[in-house]
Amino acid sequence: MAYLIVGGAGYIGSHMCLSLVQAGQNVIVLDDLSTGYRDAVNASTFVEGSLADVDLLDRIFTEYKIDAVMHFASFIQVGESVREPQKYYQNNFINTLNLLNAMVKHGVKKFIFSSTAAIFGEPLYVPIDLAHPKNPINPYGRSKWMVEQVLEDYDKAYGLKSICLRYFNVAGADPKCRVGERHEPETHLIPLVLRAASGKMSSIKVFGRDYDTPDGTCIRDYIHVMDLCQAHFLAIEYLQSNGKSAQFNLGNGNGFSVQEVIDAAIKVTGKSIQVIDEARRAGDPARLVADSSVAIKELGWKPEYPNLHDIIQHAWAWELKSI
Ligand SMILES: NC(=O)c1ccc[n+]([C@@H]2O[C@H](COP(=O)([O-])OP(=O)(O)OC[C@H]3O[C@@H](n4cnc5c(N)ncnc54)[C@H](O)[C@@H]3O)[C@@H](O)[C@H]2O)c1
Repeated sequence: MAYLIVGGAGYIGSHMCLSLVQAGQNVIVLDDLSTGYRDAVNASTFVEGSLADVDLLDRIFTEYKIDAVMHFASFIQVGESVREPQKYYQNNFINTLNLLNAMVKHGVKKFIFSSTAAIFGEPLYVPIDLAHPKNPINPYGRSKWMVEQVLEDYDKAYGLKSICLRYFNVAGADPKCRVGERHEPETHLIPLVLRAASGKMSSIKVFGRDYDTPDGTCIRDYIHVMDLCQAHFLAIEYLQSNGKSAQFNLGNGNGFSVQEVIDAAIKVTGKSIQVIDEARRAGDPARLVADSSVAIKELGWKPEYPNLHDIIQHAWAWELKSI
């Protein structure tokens, strides 16, 4: 199969490329390097360019016989999306439409979309299942939910089959440390805690210790990036064998509190981590945990690294490599 991986120079996309190349697949990466890194790309074909460039998309689909597209390219910072919604709707929504329209034009009908838990907004209950209402509370989440809705219409009208994978908190790195997480600025808890452990940062802030959770800190669902890649392989198999569009929530099913993450990081790294307590942040729910049972049942997905220790261990090896 030939895969077009859009956003293959980013954190999750680079792990996916590596997994596909190792599985002997033909991989074409399209990335504008706005938040990604050229040296993270392990595919033989790299096209530097943007989804905003419809002529480029046309040329790519003409030149390469693409069987399926995986779309990781978007802006991902929730806070920034509130300050600069235009940037998010333009890239995450309009540019995604460019990609879908090019697929329709060239008759490519298999699409895997990187969606997010942010489409659900404030959880009405946990764990969050597929039926949970979709009430995104920021432009980032809304831009992703808008794409999911468009995909439903494109399936009905053009037969474009898609799988929306709604990731919860993605963490960890390639266990062989060839690629890892490199967001700048970093906003995710595990790499931030590890930066505090390595000395790259002096401390880590904990926002709120008065939540209704056992230790008072927020609970989140961390999924290892390699387990996520596995889910993408299974999603493609699902499209091939069932030919049906679908959506899946992907998380560990086990929530871990902010304090548990810090404690686990201290254990894994053997370092002390300075913690600064801050007030709660607006829009941070107490618990965000996925119900991934449909992915487990329908895709046959079985996370290999569900425990926090492994996730942090792999992320720590990557952090050590980058200091
Ligand atoms: N990291 C997480 O925890 C998480 C959680 C839920 C969902 N997601 C989704 O997963 C996807 C990947 O996230 P990530 O953490 O790897 O982000 P990332 O920023 O590391 O990677 C995104 C990649 O897309 C590229 N890109 C952005 N806009 C582009 C454009 N217009 N044309 C070409 N390339 C473009 C960037 O250069 C970058 O290489 C995103 O869609 C994100 O919404 C991530």
